[in-house]
Amino acid sequence: MSKSSNNSVILKFLLHLHPPRIPASSAKFSYTFGLGGLAVFSFLLTTITGIILLFQYSPTPESAHVSMEQITTVIPYGWYIRNLHFWSAQVLVIAAVLHMLRIVLTGGYLKGRSFNFQIGLILLVLLFITDFTGFPLRWDAESHWALVVGTNLIKTIPVIGAGLYQFIVGSTEITGTTLLRFYGWHIFGLPFIATILIVYHIYRIRKDGGISRKKGDSVPATITKEQLVKKEVLLMLTALAGVILLSVFWTPHLGLSVDTSPPLAEVQAPWIFLGIQFLLRYLPPVIAGIVIPMAILLFWAAIPYLDKQDDLQGIWSPEPRKRFWLTFVLTLAFICSTMLAEVVV
Ligand code: HEM
Repeated sequence: MSKSSNNSVILKFLLHLHPPRIPASSAKFSYTFGLGGLAVFSFLLTTITGIILLFQYSPTPESAHVSMEQITTVIPYGWYIRNLHFWSAQVLVIAAVLHMLRIVLTGGYLKGRSFNFQIGLILLVLLFITDFTGFPLRWDAESHWALVVGTNLIKTIPVIGAGLYQFIVGSTEITGTTLLRFYGWHIFGLPFIATILIVYHIYRIRKDGGISRKKGDSVPATITKEQLVKKEVLLMLTALAGVILLSVFWTPHLGLSVDTSPPLAEVQAPWIFLGIQFLLRYLPPVIAGIVIPMAILLFWAAIPYLDKQDDLQGIWSPEPRKRFWLTFVLTLAFICSTMLAEVVV
């Protein structure tokens, strides 16, 4: 097949995903900031680079760290694929969180879109868990102890804690079985469920009447799907350039193997969980690690049922929206606790 016919197949596929005419106000970059599209693209990039890493990574306690070292230092361009995988995964999490904030601040969950909001929330939780299951695959001392601290939180859940711990970890402590289980969930179980949900999430947008728009925009000016695809391709190329640059200049840490490392003075969780790590210093584990994250999650899930201001959909002026200040305070608290966990040792 020639290069140009290859291009046209991809283009035709991209065009096919969109409805024939798209309201111009919904497609404005300043409305969505392309964040949903960015999440889709970084998910694809993370998946592709993850599949390439599978050819070299070995999930046993004896070989996991060695294979990571080989990927980083011996295999040609192994370091680069590892970096691309790491950075596209970070972009994915950040894009998904910002996308959720955009949805809340523009009322994207109003007018029948609340179900898709819940699908999105499940996706976000899946992304966090996928990130958590990827970290210990390094099998270095830092990620190992972060895994010990993180999984010990499960034990603190009343009644079901001990059983759930055994189910997730595969034993009464962290062993090779844990590594294999985390590997299985990280490379197949979680991405498989996420893929199905992403496809459904996007199908659902069309079913809900397209991306939200403001009141009075019921007979909106439209753009063609060709015009939208052009914008999307530009966004993808910009994101790709960003991830490539990050990957060239910053290699994620790989510490000493669990067996050869001296005892660590301080364990650092992946950045997403630094807020919880900070709270763990001052609150009982069950409160910091289970009750507070669950309460925040329930608050987010309840937003579409608490806010019924359909008139305010599609407007980036959140002052009258009841949930705005709480969202703002929670986001600020998350950022502050994450930064504090970095500096307060
Ligand atoms: C892997 C994660 C996610 C992907 C790939 C994704 C993808 C997308 C895409 C491509 C769109 C349309 C474009 C846009 O609005 O920017 C969209 C819209 C939407 N998303 Fe997501 N999303 C994700 C996570 C979430 C999360 C965490 C939430 C909320 C909790 C959410 C809720 C919604 C809703 C309600 C819409 C419709 C918005 C509207 O009509 O204004 N999504 N998503």
